[in-house]
Amino acid sequence: MCVILYTYLNYLDVNKIPHMKERNVLAGNWKMNLDYMDAIQLVQALLEGVEDTDRMIISVPYLYISGLAKLTNNSPIEIAAQNCHQKEKGAYTGEISANMLASVGTDYVVLGHSERREYFGETDTLILEKIKMAFASNLKVIYCCGEPLDVREADNHSHFVAEQIEASILQLSSEEMKNIIIAYEPIWAIGTGKTASAEQAQEMHKVIRGLLVSKFGSETAEACSILYGGSVKPANADELFAMPDVDGGLVGGASLKADSFLSILRSNR
Ligand code: 13P
Repeated sequence: MCVILYTYLNYLDVNKIPHMKERNVLAGNWKMNLDYMDAIQLVQALLEGVEDTDRMIISVPYLYISGLAKLTNNSPIEIAAQNCHQKEKGAYTGEISANMLASVGTDYVVLGHSERREYFGETDTLILEKIKMAFASNLKVIYCCGEPLDVREADNHSHFVAEQIEASILQLSSEEMKNIIIAYEPIWAIGTGKTASAEQAQEMHKVIRGLLVSKFGSETAEACSILYGGSVKPANADELFAMPDVDGGLVGGASLKADSFLSILRSNR
């Protein structure tokens, strides 16, 4: 960890990475919201607003994946699951495997979300197991990290997030990293209406990219999309996405309405 932090501090001084358009991605995380009819109407409205050059991912309830994957086939919208089990298969009543998700047209799975860490006791070790299982089923991963309020107030956020990342995605290979999108989501900004400032987001995204540079080299680090999540709305998206290391957003509440999500999408072009 010391070596990584040291290399990162050097990197901060010498490397100025320009904002790369090709990293831009907008992801919506519906969480446990919307019934199926609302979901279909929302996706139909999104399909009318997306352009071929956009990259949009929607993270939807398991039940809807099969239908929405068909609806979005041949469109720029990709489908993510909100979780998967870490085991390949077996006697785990009620669980969903990565392979099952892939077999109904899922492209991504969201792993490491703070709500799964907090309410379902998911640890870094478990998250890494799930990432490996997702890759074994040819799913890509949106990996989430982020600090709680007390850690931010103690000014320990960089160290906290670095430890999360060290224990999970820094254990992967450069080849595997090509299939990871990172979402930095400070827990104090999720669903609270309190957004990290553009500068706070940029600072942490730069820390994260620095960690990737030290482990995988700059080519892999510069190719990786790092999204910000936590009360992203039409009113703050322009400012956040203008930051050189903020490549888009993982949006909760504002992804549940087509007009707000499409407005955020336009800020990401
Ligand atoms: P909100 O945009 O509702 O704050 O949610 C963020 C989030 O948790 C996305 O995964």
